[in-house]
Amino acid sequence: MSILIENIKELVQIEDEPKRLVKGAEMSKLRTLKNAFLLIEDGIISGFGSMDDLNKLELQNSIENLTTIDSTGKMVFPSFVDSHTHLVYPASREIEYIDKIKGLSYEEIAKRGGGILNSAKLMQESTEDELVESSLARLNEIIKYGTGAVEIKSGYGLTVESELKMLRVIKRLKELSPLTIKSTFLGAHSIPLEYRSDQTKYVDVVINEMLPLVADENLADYIDVFCDTGFFTVEDTERILEAGMKYNIRGKIHANELDYSGGIQAGIKYNALSVDHLEFTGEKEIEALLNSETMPTVLPGAAFFLGMKYTPVREMMDAGLPVALASDFNPGSSPSGNMQLIISMACILYKMLPEEAINATTINTAYAMGISDKLGSIAIGKKANVFITSEIPTYEYMPYYYGTNKVETVILNGEIID
Ligand code: NIG
Ligand code: FE
Repeated sequence: MSILIENIKELVQIEDEPKRLVKGAEMSKLRTLKNAFLLIEDGIISGFGSMDDLNKLELQNSIENLTTIDSTGKMVFPSFVDSHTHLVYPASREIEYIDKIKGLSYEEIAKRGGGILNSAKLMQESTEDELVESSLARLNEIIKYGTGAVEIKSGYGLTVESELKMLRVIKRLKELSPLTIKSTFLGAHSIPLEYRSDQTKYVDVVINEMLPLVADENLADYIDVFCDTGFFTVEDTERILEAGMKYNIRGKIHANELDYSGGIQAGIKYNALSVDHLEFTGEKEIEALLNSETMPTVLPGAAFFLGMKYTPVREMMDAGLPVALASDFNPGSSPSGNMQLIISMACILYKMLPEEAINATTINTAYAMGISDKLGSIAIGKKANVFITSEIPTYEYMPYYYGTNKVETVILNGEIID
């Protein structure tokens, strides 16, 4: 199928020479083209430009079955890339949400065996088919909000069998969904109760029992550890990242959400693709990130939902760092995968400019998923995952007019999604 989108009010996030990521002062720059067209052939962006330069007749003669979409008054964006989610989960956890409203902290809930362990218990009772069905519904929901690529973690399994089950579900989702999906093995998400007196033993299980099977079935693109106070230590994290490297599986880790845990530095030491959360980021952490290939990724949904302090993104960008923003979609700390809401939170709570928030949810999250050569911007040769907005006055309106869906038409792999 070939598609010509014409009369685009503004084509957002265009690139002539695609970059892997944007950082520092560049983050406030967003290239756009007004009164534009976009051409898609065989699932790939094959051209774009000003309507003044469009020779429609020539295109209609040279391209068979060209579908034309008139986008008068509407904008076209590259699809959002959501580089951090836990969207395969067995059930919602609104009871803990009430506990939180009444004053219990995330750590207190976890200590009582709630939180992640609560999901792990239900996960063990769920079938692969049930999980595929409920996760597909969530994927279809985020597609409607403009997401075109998503990373999904395991980590509600916490036993060999159950972790493999989750990863097999993600593998099936890759086959069933039009979204671009990457999977991450997060065996070290929480310490099961039976290992609480000797957590090293559980790390041994992750490394010696789970990981070889995960690698053998080719179930994970990345490996993750929740490196934080009350969860896994720097030593645990380094052991797991090192084990991952033996299988050529790079890290993408949960770090510095609850404390200056050393997680950021541990991730960088093992060349993690990203370190995520980062509420506790100071000068030392910024310095370490500056000398790395690791994408600092902020999860506004979790900070908002748990009432945590906000990652110092302005200081990070002023120091020259890139910043990525993902949803962290999960039942315990961020029950939404709506990336439009994430850019609104970024602007309102983190005082990011709309341009910075858009860069952080497209090209930089694409980097954090290892796919910025294929997605994250409008560039010739990239995969045609884009969305057409409803009629909106400016691109700044996207974060400003929060709470409603401004995505009207979704195109994934060059196909219009109903
Ligand atoms: O990224 N911080 C660790 N893990 C998840 C929460 C998972 C849960 O509570 O179910 C997060 O916020
Ligand atoms: Fe997470």
